[in-house]
Amino acid sequence: MATITILNGPNLNLLGKREPEIYGHATLADVEALCRDKCSALGHEAAFFQSNAEHELIDAIHAARETSAAIVINPGAFTHTSIALRDALSAFDGPIAEVHISNVHAREEFRHKSYISGIATAVICGAGIAGYGFGIETVAAKL
Ligand code: DQA
Repeated sequence: MATITILNGPNLNLLGKREPEIYGHATLADVEALCRDKCSALGHEAAFFQSNAEHELIDAIHAARETSAAIVINPGAFTHTSIALRDALSAFDGPIAEVHISNVHAREEFRHKSYISGIATAVICGAGIAGYGFGIETVAAKL
């Protein structure tokens, strides 16, 4: 059994209330339940964390170096801006899945660039919250 850390970035605490036509009606609590179920079905444990603060996400990635075998991350808007998040993830040894609920490539141009994709093991976008489950399956298969 391994621990898989699932991280969510800014504004994802508003899932279900925020732009439901883009992100759907499921809440972050629904995402957490999905992730916990998927991890336990695969014989693993989930560590789940959301923050609106870049440094808290970086600290969580640093902590995962000691506690977790894999990371699934939806970095939210930090995807498109944060070299610091990329550097923190680069220092993590296990597989990493980058997840986006929406299809970022079908949206504004500024969402097409990801600082994370180049160091991710897998990138899943446009599958709704099911993408978190696909991300967990993908990293678990590499453990
Ligand atoms: C998102 C896509 C990002 O562009 C956006 O800033 C988000 C959510 C997604 O899950 O589709 O906050 O990561």
